[in-house]
Amino acid sequence: MDLSTGLGGCGLNRAGDRKRVVILGSTGSIGRQALDVVRSHPDRFVVVGLGAGRNRDLLRAQIATFGCPSYSAVDGPLPDTSATFLPLVDLATVDADLVLVATVGAAGIAPTLAALRAGRDVALANKEVLVVAGRPVVEAARASGAAILPVDSEHSAIWQCIRGEAKLGAWSPGSPIERLLLTASGGAFRDLPIDDLDTVTPEQALHHPNWVMGAKVTIDSATLLNKGFEVIEAHWLFGLPYDRIDVVLHRESLVHSLVAFADGTMKAQLGPPDMRLPIQYALGYPNRLTSPVERLDLSAVGQLTFARVPADRYPCFRLAIAAASAGESACAVLSGADEAAVSLFLERRIRFTDIPALIERVLSARCPVAGLSADELVVASEWAEAKCRELAE
Ligand SMILES: NC(=O)c1ccc[n+]([C@@H]2O[C@H](COP(=O)([O-])OP(=O)(O)OC[C@H]3O[C@@H](n4cnc5c(N)ncnc54)[C@H](OP(=O)(O)O)[C@@H]3O)[C@@H](O)[C@H]2O)c1
Repeated sequence: MDLSTGLGGCGLNRAGDRKRVVILGSTGSIGRQALDVVRSHPDRFVVVGLGAGRNRDLLRAQIATFGCPSYSAVDGPLPDTSATFLPLVDLATVDADLVLVATVGAAGIAPTLAALRAGRDVALANKEVLVVAGRPVVEAARASGAAILPVDSEHSAIWQCIRGEAKLGAWSPGSPIERLLLTASGGAFRDLPIDDLDTVTPEQALHHPNWVMGAKVTIDSATLLNKGFEVIEAHWLFGLPYDRIDVVLHRESLVHSLVAFADGTMKAQLGPPDMRLPIQYALGYPNRLTSPVERLDLSAVGQLTFARVPADRYPCFRLAIAAASAGESACAVLSGADEAAVSLFLERRIRFTDIPALIERVLSARCPVAGLSADELVVASEWAEAKCRELAE
C-alpha cells in the first residue's frame, strides 16, 4: 500500500477541531493506553465511540469519563447509560476521523473492513487482521482512499524511519528501501533451557521481560509466533516481499525496528518500551505530540545487543515464515490455529510445547489456496480454530 499517499488525510479534521476517535477494544491493554493518550491531549482528541468485549464495568466507566456518545459491547446494551449502543461494525463507521482497532484475534477483521470501506482511516493494532485478511484489507483501503496507520511498535518504528523517504506501496527492485529489520525481544523464555519448555506454566509465559501487554500477544511473544505475525503484517503494510523482511533478536527492546536503504544507510527508531508512544504517533499523525513517558538515557543503557533468531528455540516462528511463503490462506489457518492453541494453553489443557505441534498439524491438514475473499479467509481461520481444538481433544 502506498503509505505516502494513504497517510495524507490523517491530519486534524477539516475544521481544525479535535480529532474524533473511535476505539475498538477500549478495555484492553492498547485501548486503555490509547485513552491515556487522549486524556493527556484533551485539546487534540475527542472519543466518539468505544467498543469492548465483556468488561462491561470498565466500559461503563470509560463512557462516563470520556462523555462518549456511542459504544458497543459483545453481550449487548448496557442498562444504565444514555450513550447509543451499536454493533461493533456499525461503531466502526460512525462519523469519525480515525478508528483505532485494538481488538484481539479475528474480532477486528469485520470492523476494520467496514471502517476502511466507509473511508475511515484506521490505526491498526490488531495484527491478526492483516495476518488473516491482509490482501482484502489493503485492497479495501486502496479502493476508498482510507489510510492504515501502524500501531504495533515495530511497524510504527519502520513508518517513522521511512517518513520523508520513498513511497513504499508499489515496492520494486529500484526502491531506495532495501530491507526491513524487525527487532524481537525473544519473549519470556529466551534464556530457559529448551528442554524445560515442556513444563512452563501460563503464569511464567505471561511474564514478558520488557513489555506489559494483553494475554494473547504475550504468549505469542513467548513462542515468537508474534514476530512471524509481524513479518506478515509488515509485508502488507509496507509492500515489501517476504525475502526483504528480516528479524533480529534485540533483548533490550529499545530499538523498535530498522530500515536498510539502498546506499547502505540504516535508520533505527529508539525509545522506551512504552506502547503509549506508537499509539500516540498513530493518533496524532501527522503531528508529533508531547508525551510524559520516561526518556531513554543511552549512557545508562550502556550497550545494545543484536543476534540471530535461534530457530530450534522458536518452532512457531519457523511455521509462520513457512505459512507466509505458502500463501494467504495458510496465514489465515496459522492465525486461527494459534488462537485456539493459545487459549488451550492458558486454560492449562495443553503444554507450551504443544502450541507449535498443534499449529503444524492444522497447517498440514489444509492445502494453501490463493485469491480468497475476506469472508473465505475468515472461514479458513475459523476452520483452523475448530480443527486445533478437535486435535487437542
Ligand atoms: N498490548 C500491547 O502492548 C500490544 C502491542 C502491539 C500489538 N498489540 C496487538 O493489539 C491487539 C490488542 O492487544 P491487547 O494486548 O490490547 O489485547 P487485550 O488486552 O486482550 O484487549 C483486547 C480488547 O479486545 C476486546 N475484545 C475481545 N474480543 C472482542 C470481541 N469479540 N468484540 C469486541 N471486542 C473484543 C477486549 O474486550 P474485553 O476486555 O472487554 O473483553 C479488549 O478490549 C492484539 O492484536 C495485539 O497483538 C498489542
